[in-house]
Amino acid sequence: MSPDTTSPTASSAASSASAPSAPAPSAPVAAGYDVERVRADFPALHQSAHGHPLAYLDNGATTQKPRAVIDAEVHFYEHDCANVHRGVHALSERATRAFDGARAAVQRFLGAPSPREVVFVRGVTEAINLVAHSYARPRLREGDEILLTQLEHHANIVPWQLAARETGAVLKVVPCNDRGELLFEEYLRLLGPRTRIVGVGHVSNALGTVNPVRAMIEAAHAQGVPVLVDGAQAAPHVRIDVQALDCDFYAFSGHKVYGPTGIGALYGKETLLDAMPPYQGGGEMIRRVTFQESTWAALPMKFEAGTPNVAGAVGLAAAIAYVEALGLERIAAHEHTLLEAATAALADLPGLRIVGTARDKASLVSFVLEGVHPHDVGTILDRQGIAVRAGHHCAMPVMERFGLPATTRASFGLYNTLAEVEALAAGLRKVREVFAR
Ligand code: ALA
Repeated sequence: MSPDTTSPTASSAASSASAPSAPAPSAPVAAGYDVERVRADFPALHQSAHGHPLAYLDNGATTQKPRAVIDAEVHFYEHDCANVHRGVHALSERATRAFDGARAAVQRFLGAPSPREVVFVRGVTEAINLVAHSYARPRLREGDEILLTQLEHHANIVPWQLAARETGAVLKVVPCNDRGELLFEEYLRLLGPRTRIVGVGHVSNALGTVNPVRAMIEAAHAQGVPVLVDGAQAAPHVRIDVQALDCDFYAFSGHKVYGPTGIGALYGKETLLDAMPPYQGGGEMIRRVTFQESTWAALPMKFEAGTPNVAGAVGLAAAIAYVEALGLERIAAHEHTLLEAATAALADLPGLRIVGTARDKASLVSFVLEGVHPHDVGTILDRQGIAVRAGHHCAMPVMERFGLPATTRASFGLYNTLAEVEALAAGLRKVREVFAR
């Protein structure tokens, strides 16, 4: 049942940096999925925590990095470190090539038609703030509606609240059922003549629900309403194709797809991005500056003021190459096995309730253990070397929907194993024992 025993796949990352040209960032892959071979690519996994082998099950918060990503950043700093699109010297040319190459990698990863539609940002939070500020604010009038869902992360709530406060617009919220699935009929009902934009997470970070974004986009477009998709939790698990989705904006963060922190991307349809004013002013985003007025650079530079995170972009390209080489479909199949195993193992534990049982679900389990605060669950698991997240997961409205202050969440990634799922279940039995005393 496990793909863990299939033939070898990813080899260890890119070559070490000895030549001035950038290392090939991909990890060549044969058929099959050998999770032990994959794990060998991730140095951080091979350590102990509190005297136990580390079981890193907090991938929803951030992922560990393969050697290919670490090497790509080291190579950049050791050989190619320069500013981009500015210098005429050799290092600047190499840095610019690497940076532009990273944009091409993101374009391919998202299925975007053009590199002009790929804006580098710090991550999903900045991407949504950009859209709320530059797309929504100038268009919103008093009484206009921004349509969100009950499952959203705070990053897809608060920027819209700020825009609403300034413009007199209001937020409308699509509710979910007890499984954590959006009520589509309610969505259709709320999609009204005053709706100006829809913001929806592709995958819920708190419950794992995969939302029917394609159908939601189609319904919104039938009313002439654009849709922003928060892909933070989808990008590591689901193949993204912005053209097939026909979304207007799509955002993801590099650090959730095995890339560096502080780098991510916003896809936006060119016609929309073109019509939007800049988000921040500064160098690189201008065509001409006088004290009287300034004009803007072409896309995507109009939205990239200042020196970009070049090393981050290079690392992100390496992460994308790594994930693509493994294959998103095979990653998803492996993670699905882990999800099924975890769901079955946790369902057997007395007093444990899984929160979020959507039929279409990504590889995480959020749960509560009767009589034990989620933070205590997290702490006792940590003492056994098992890293999970406990809290409201930056999604307080979802917690409120389920009448909970917090849950414990185990989120699985491409390098997790069935043995780690078993360790989680054993760890939870220990938690029960501690609290039964
Ligand atoms: N949004 C991240 C999470 O779900 C931090 O943990």
